[in-house]
Amino acid sequence: MAEEAAHTEGGIRGIIQAYPREKRFILPLMQDIQKEYNYLPREALLTIANHVGVPFSKVYSMATFYKAFSLTPKGRYNIRVCDGTACHIKNSAVLIDQIYNNLGIKPGETTGDGMFSLETVNCLGACAIAPVVMVNEMVHPKVSSSGILDVIKRYKGGSDDAN
Ligand code: FES
Repeated sequence: MAEEAAHTEGGIRGIIQAYPREKRFILPLMQDIQKEYNYLPREALLTIANHVGVPFSKVYSMATFYKAFSLTPKGRYNIRVCDGTACHIKNSAVLIDQIYNNLGIKPGETTGDGMFSLETVNCLGACAIAPVVMVNEMVHPKVSSSGILDVIKRYKGGSDDAN
Protein backbone atom coordinates (compact mmCIF):
# COMPACT_ATOMS: atom_id res chain seq x y z
CA MET A 1 0.00 0.00 0.00
CA ALA A 2 2.81 2.42 0.90
CA GLU A 3 4.44 1.49 -2.40
CA GLU A 4 1.22 2.29 -4.24
CA ALA A 5 0.92 5.65 -2.46
CA ALA A 6 4.50 6.51 -3.38
CA HIS A 7 3.81 5.53 -6.99
CA THR A 8 0.67 7.71 -7.05
CA GLU A 9 2.53 10.60 -5.49
CA GLY A 10 5.34 10.35 -8.05
CA GLY A 11 2.84 10.15 -10.90
CA ILE A 12 0.94 13.18 -9.66
CA ARG A 13 4.10 15.19 -9.29
CA GLY A 14 5.04 14.24 -12.85
CA ILE A 15 1.70 15.47 -14.18
CA ILE A 16 1.89 18.73 -12.25
CA GLN A 17 5.46 19.52 -13.17
CA ALA A 18 4.63 19.17 -16.85
CA TYR A 19 2.53 22.35 -16.56
CA PRO A 20 3.81 25.92 -16.31
CA ARG A 21 3.41 27.53 -12.88
CA GLU A 22 0.38 29.58 -13.89
CA LYS A 23 -3.07 29.81 -12.32
CA ARG A 24 -4.85 29.26 -15.62
CA PHE A 25 -3.63 25.67 -15.61
CA ILE A 26 -5.35 24.69 -12.35
CA LEU A 27 -8.37 23.26 -14.15
CA PRO A 28 -6.49 21.25 -16.81
CA LEU A 29 -4.20 19.95 -14.07
CA MET A 30 -7.13 18.72 -12.06
CA GLN A 31 -8.71 17.19 -15.16
CA ASP A 32 -5.50 15.26 -15.95
CA ILE A 33 -5.20 13.93 -12.40
CA GLN A 34 -8.89 13.04 -12.20
CA LYS A 35 -8.57 11.18 -15.50
CA GLU A 36 -5.51 9.25 -14.36
CA TYR A 37 -6.62 8.37 -10.82
CA ASN A 38 -10.42 8.70 -10.97
CA TYR A 39 -10.32 11.21 -8.15
CA LEU A 40 -8.30 14.11 -6.77
CA PRO A 41 -6.23 13.08 -3.78
CA ARG A 42 -5.78 15.83 -1.17
CA GLU A 43 -2.04 15.61 -1.73
CA ALA A 44 -2.56 16.49 -5.38
CA LEU A 45 -4.56 19.62 -4.50
CA LEU A 46 -1.82 20.73 -2.12
CA THR A 47 0.85 20.17 -4.75
CA ILE A 48 -1.17 22.08 -7.37
CA ALA A 49 -1.64 24.99 -4.95
CA ASN A 50 2.12 25.12 -4.30
CA HIS A 51 2.94 24.74 -7.96
CA VAL A 52 0.88 27.68 -9.20
CA GLY A 53 1.23 29.75 -6.01
CA VAL A 54 -2.37 30.01 -4.79
CA PRO A 55 -3.85 29.13 -1.40
CA PHE A 56 -4.98 25.53 -0.92
CA SER A 57 -8.51 26.80 -0.20
CA LYS A 58 -8.80 28.20 -3.74
CA VAL A 59 -7.85 24.91 -5.38
CA TYR A 60 -10.08 23.02 -2.97
CA SER A 61 -13.10 25.19 -3.69
CA MET A 62 -12.61 24.71 -7.43
CA ALA A 63 -12.39 20.95 -6.93
CA THR A 64 -15.65 20.91 -4.99
CA PHE A 65 -17.42 23.31 -7.36
CA TYR A 66 -17.15 21.14 -10.48
CA LYS A 67 -19.22 17.95 -10.46
CA ALA A 68 -16.75 16.25 -12.76
CA PHE A 69 -14.25 16.07 -9.92
CA SER A 70 -14.31 13.65 -7.03
CA LEU A 71 -12.39 14.02 -3.80
CA THR A 72 -12.84 10.38 -2.90
CA PRO A 73 -11.65 7.39 -4.90
CA LYS A 74 -14.10 6.08 -7.46
CA GLY A 75 -14.33 2.65 -8.99
CA ARG A 76 -13.09 1.71 -12.42
CA TYR A 77 -16.74 1.78 -13.42
CA ASN A 78 -18.68 4.71 -12.04
CA ILE A 79 -22.38 3.92 -12.16
CA ARG A 80 -24.64 6.96 -12.26
CA VAL A 81 -28.30 6.24 -11.73
CA CYS A 82 -30.54 9.11 -12.71
CA ASP A 83 -33.06 9.83 -9.98
CA GLY A 84 -34.64 12.87 -11.57
CA THR A 85 -38.44 13.08 -11.77
CA ALA A 86 -38.90 11.14 -15.03
CA CYS A 87 -36.53 8.38 -13.97
CA HIS A 88 -37.90 8.28 -10.44
CA ILE A 89 -41.42 7.70 -11.76
CA LYS A 90 -40.03 4.81 -13.79
CA ASN A 91 -38.62 3.15 -10.69
CA SER A 92 -35.02 4.31 -10.58
CA ALA A 93 -35.11 3.60 -6.82
CA VAL A 94 -35.47 -0.08 -7.62
CA LEU A 95 -32.27 0.09 -9.68
CA ILE A 96 -30.43 1.57 -6.72
CA ASP A 97 -31.74 -1.26 -4.54
CA GLN A 98 -30.71 -3.85 -7.09
CA ILE A 99 -27.20 -2.42 -7.23
CA TYR A 100 -27.01 -2.54 -3.46
CA ASN A 101 -28.21 -6.17 -3.44
CA ASN A 102 -25.72 -7.15 -6.11
CA LEU A 103 -22.65 -5.06 -5.34
CA GLY A 104 -23.27 -4.03 -1.73
CA ILE A 105 -22.80 -0.31 -2.38
CA LYS A 106 -25.04 2.68 -1.79
CA PRO A 107 -24.77 6.05 -3.53
CA GLY A 108 -21.40 7.61 -2.69
CA GLU A 109 -19.73 4.26 -2.08
CA THR A 110 -17.17 2.15 -3.93
CA THR A 111 -16.80 -1.62 -3.89
CA GLY A 112 -13.88 -2.98 -1.89
CA ASP A 113 -12.14 -4.23 -5.04
CA GLY A 114 -12.29 -0.75 -6.59
CA MET A 115 -14.33 -1.98 -9.56
CA PHE A 116 -17.61 -0.12 -9.09
CA SER A 117 -18.82 3.07 -7.50
CA LEU A 118 -22.35 4.39 -7.40
CA GLU A 119 -23.82 7.85 -7.45
CA THR A 120 -27.21 9.32 -8.18
CA VAL A 121 -27.76 12.32 -10.39
CA ASN A 122 -30.74 14.59 -10.90
CA CYS A 123 -31.36 14.53 -14.63
CA LEU A 124 -29.12 13.33 -17.42
CA GLY A 125 -31.19 15.20 -20.00
CA ALA A 126 -32.51 12.01 -21.56
CA CYS A 127 -35.91 11.71 -19.88
CA ALA A 128 -37.49 10.10 -22.98
CA ILE A 129 -35.43 6.98 -22.35
CA ALA A 130 -36.01 6.86 -18.59
CA PRO A 131 -34.90 5.28 -16.41
CA VAL A 132 -31.34 6.05 -17.45
CA VAL A 133 -28.13 4.66 -16.06
CA MET A 134 -24.68 5.75 -17.15
CA VAL A 135 -21.57 3.69 -16.57
CA ASN A 136 -18.58 5.94 -17.14
CA GLU A 137 -19.53 7.60 -20.47
CA MET A 138 -21.85 4.85 -21.69
CA VAL A 139 -25.61 5.54 -21.57
CA HIS A 140 -27.92 2.62 -20.77
CA PRO A 141 -31.54 3.51 -21.66
CA LYS A 142 -34.81 2.17 -20.21
CA VAL A 143 -33.07 -0.03 -17.68
CA SER A 144 -35.38 -2.54 -15.99
CA SER A 145 -34.83 -4.04 -12.56
CA SER A 146 -33.42 -7.19 -14.16
CA GLY A 147 -31.67 -5.20 -16.88
CA ILE A 148 -29.45 -3.46 -14.34
CA LEU A 149 -28.14 -6.87 -13.28
CA ASP A 150 -27.22 -7.63 -16.89
CA VAL A 151 -25.43 -4.30 -17.14
CA ILE A 152 -23.42 -5.03 -14.00
CA LYS A 153 -22.61 -8.54 -15.21
CA ARG A 154 -21.21 -7.24 -18.47
CA TYR A 155 -18.94 -4.75 -16.72
CA LYS A 156 -17.84 -7.42 -14.27
CA GLY A 157 -16.59 -9.18 -17.37
CA GLY A 158 -14.16 -6.30 -17.72
CA SER A 159 -15.43 -4.68 -20.90
CA ASP A 160 -14.86 -0.94 -20.92
CA ASP A 161 -17.60 -0.36 -23.44
CA ALA A 162 -20.25 -2.86 -22.42
CA ASN A 163 -23.62 -1.77 -23.71
S1 FES B 1 -34.97 12.56 -15.10
FE1 FES B 1 -33.60 11.00 -15.68
S2 FES B 1 -32.89 11.67 -17.60
FE2 FES B 1 -34.21 13.22 -16.97
